[in-house]
Amino acid sequence: MKIKFVILTLAVVSLTFCKSKKSGETVITKPIVKEELSADLKASAEARYPGVAVADILEGQKLYYSKCGKCHGLPEVESQTEAKWPEWMDDMAPKANLDAAQKEKTLKYILAARDIKVKK
Ligand code: HEC
Repeated sequence: MKIKFVILTLAVVSLTFCKSKKSGETVITKPIVKEELSADLKASAEARYPGVAVADILEGQKLYYSKCGKCHGLPEVESQTEAKWPEWMDDMAPKANLDAAQKEKTLKYILAARDIKVKK
């Protein structure tokens, strides 16, 4: 009888503990901006833009994650054709307050990332 009670108490306590731990979890809704380019992206960018500064693609990646998901969800890089992306960037760069250089870097990032998804 006593042992049963102890087991029951333990079960209740651990259940409560697990529950409270779960509800305390932080849900990450914003994508984490990576401080480095993945090896895949680096290779893809260098194949598409020989001699490109890796830092430019990294900046493009940061801009994309920080500026392009504000009004709508972050667009999938493969959602637009290669020909359409520059047109969208003409449209979206002013909306995202990107200057000409930032727009160029963001577009380069998008197309390099797109190559990985589309040419798999
Ligand atoms: C100030 C708000 C705003 C920001 C910031 C913004 N967009 Fe948009 N975006 C829109 C609106 C509004 C539309 C709807 C179509 C239009 O207005 O041309 C849209 C549509 C799009 C579409 C077309 C989606 C589809 O499939 O029809 C793409 C692609 C896109 N945006 C990419 C981007 C990128 C890349 C960035 C970052 C450089 C960006 N957007 C930043 C407001 C924004």
